[in-house]
Amino acid sequence: MKWWSVILSLSVLHLSCGCFAYHLESNGTVAAEQNELDGVHSGQRSGRFFPFYTIGRIANVPCTSPSGLSGTCLIAGECRDNGGLASGSCSSRTNQAVCCVYTQSCGGSTTLNSTYFTNAGFPGPYNGGGTCTFTVTPSSGICQLRMDFRTLTLSQPTGDGSCTTDRLTIVGGSPAVVPICGENTGQHLYINFAGSSPISLRIATNGDVSFNRLWNIELSQISCASAERAPVGCLQYYTDESGEISSLNYGAGENPALNTVGARGSRQLANTNYGICIRPAAARCSITYSLPPNDRYAFTLSGDAIVMDPTLLGTAMLSASGALCQNDFVVIPNPTGLTSDRFCGLGFPGITSSARPFVLYTVTNGNETPDVANRGFRLLYSQNACSAA
Ligand SMILES: *[C@@H]1O[C@H](CO)[C@@H](O)[C@H](O)[C@H]1NC(C)=O
Ligand SMILES: *[C@@H]1O[C@H](CO)[C@@H](O)[C@H](O)[C@H]1NC(C)=O
Repeated sequence: MKWWSVILSLSVLHLSCGCFAYHLESNGTVAAEQNELDGVHSGQRSGRFFPFYTIGRIANVPCTSPSGLSGTCLIAGECRDNGGLASGSCSSRTNQAVCCVYTQSCGGSTTLNSTYFTNAGFPGPYNGGGTCTFTVTPSSGICQLRMDFRTLTLSQPTGDGSCTTDRLTIVGGSPAVVPICGENTGQHLYINFAGSSPISLRIATNGDVSFNRLWNIELSQISCASAERAPVGCLQYYTDESGEISSLNYGAGENPALNTVGARGSRQLANTNYGICIRPAAARCSITYSLPPNDRYAFTLSGDAIVMDPTLLGTAMLSASGALCQNDFVVIPNPTGLTSDRFCGLGFPGITSSARPFVLYTVTNGNETPDVANRGFRLLYSQNACSAA
């Protein structure tokens, strides 16, 4: 490579990476603030070309603010120019480097990583109507958008699981996701960008219905090469060795709405069909799903949850599988010791599977006609050592 091609590629890199030159050390190891090409020239002349770039700049890496928000490490001035909020420092090398946190609301857009999309008036609630949209355009080398619902409280769906009063719709990525409503704080989703096209989050609320809506959605751009990238077919991706998964809008309490046949409604969202994937940990060969303690409604997918003796809810006795599961069910591929991989009903027996990838599929249809007061599922998962499989 000729010296001038090095200069050219580094200046192009500068334009795309948002790096920042600054005065680094007082002992003169690195030239003080100077512009890009001067920096390269002086580095060339002095034979300290690479040290200039590796030490004299801060990497714009992810950081965490003192209050636990995700940000990007930037020089304070650049954070301000980008409309961010400096939230703690992020480099021991210079006190000018801040953890820069971006928060935006309705009508906003970003190309930057780690942006929080909030309702108008956040952290206060929004009790009104209209459509609030936020758009993320991927940087180069980005394949997925991870949405973390730090808070997402919208009104409950109809008794059949349709989001008619409030709804979050996701436009422009894949796979297609059904409109989301109800209580989804703590849930997350991964959506693939279609090339360099943006993805929009659109939250529509019906102002005729008084309800305290609240949202704060963390938007992370996941690079194509990242270990955090969700595998194909996974709308959700968990990376801990053990943890908890639940259906969208799972929560305490019934949906107060009635379904179309006048029965007590469901919290399950209608027409879902997606995978919840779990990253296999080192030396773990199988995964076990089980009911959490002290939550009788933790597996209420189909059937009448009111007519049942409450002490039996959740027990294996009330679980159904195979051909009995046609409307709302989960699929756990190749379960150990069982012939069917489909489960529904009002109870859950505890299932182990060693099929890879570790995934549980959740499927719901468009109504809750034979069902009463279902809530969906909340399950614990834990990965088992290979010797135990
Ligand atoms: C300059 O200071 C840095 C950190 O304070 C130190 O790591 C480095 O060795 C110093 N360089 C010289 C040439 O003194
Ligand atoms: C974006 O931020 C998230 C969360 O801080 C981080 O995991 C991810 O690696 C970042 N993406 C890029 C491309 O730096």
